[in-house]
Amino acid sequence: MPFLLCSGNFLLSSRGTPASPLMEPGIFITFEGSEGCGKSTQVERLSVRLAVAAPGRPLLTLREPGGTALGEEIRRLLKLTAPGWTVLPEAELLLFAASRAQLVRETIAPTLAADGIILCDRFLDSTTVYQGIGRRLELAEVAAINEFAAGPRRPDITFLLDLPSADALERLHRRSLWANLPPDRMELELPAFYEQVRTGYLALAALHPERFVTLNAALAPDELERQIWTHLTRRFHGLCSDRRP
Ligand SMILES: Nc1ncnc2c1ncn2[C@@H]1O[C@H](COP(=O)(O)OP(=O)(O)O)[C@@H](O)[C@H]1O
Ligand SMILES: [Mg+2]
Repeated sequence: MPFLLCSGNFLLSSRGTPASPLMEPGIFITFEGSEGCGKSTQVERLSVRLAVAAPGRPLLTLREPGGTALGEEIRRLLKLTAPGWTVLPEAELLLFAASRAQLVRETIAPTLAADGIILCDRFLDSTTVYQGIGRRLELAEVAAINEFAAGPRRPDITFLLDLPSADALERLHRRSLWANLPPDRMELELPAFYEQVRTGYLALAALHPERFVTLNAALAPDELERQIWTHLTRRFHGLCSDRRP
């Protein structure tokens, strides 16, 4: 996978030394992984735990794309499937970036500045992996657009829920049947796309061990919830008033 390593080197060098999360207010937690890996399930569970553990502290649960009025409209466009409807990779990248630019400035930055906690279901790592690696857009350009859209602040901790692509697709299939919903545009991608996404995430996590925590998403939801909580409380002692490790 030489292209992944190249992209990673670029991402690292282009970003320079990451700002120390311990010097900035708020806690910024993101969840990543392919469709069906269990992100929404764990985000919801963690938000319940955090609401109990840190009462009175601003707590926002967000999803990407979306999270703002503009972002939710962009989400609708990105999920749409219709005869004759195409979204080219470059346009897709910019739509995700537009949603993120709005979310960061309208919601994430003010909440973190107020020492709040942000839980985000996907963030810029999704763009690196889906548009950069999955869609094969030039990684340097994806990184530059990510920087522009997201600004300087990076998540303090990113949980990567890692699942073999066949298992993820099986879960998606069951979820669609259960909810009686047709698959969205991303869910219609071929298994090879999902395998690339998985490989891309693992490579990205290896490049950023300071913030990525990779978990086996095949574990039961209760066990995953427990592991996530353990990592979080170990990282943010006395969650969440004292952030020193
Ligand atoms: N740890 C798990 N083990 C088995 N099934 C799970 C697990 N976590 C979630 N699921 C189920 O898999 C499907 C996808 O989960 P979801 O949280 O919606 O994933 P995502 O948000 O990553 O697409 C849902 O039907 C959910 O109930
Ligand atoms: Mg989800």
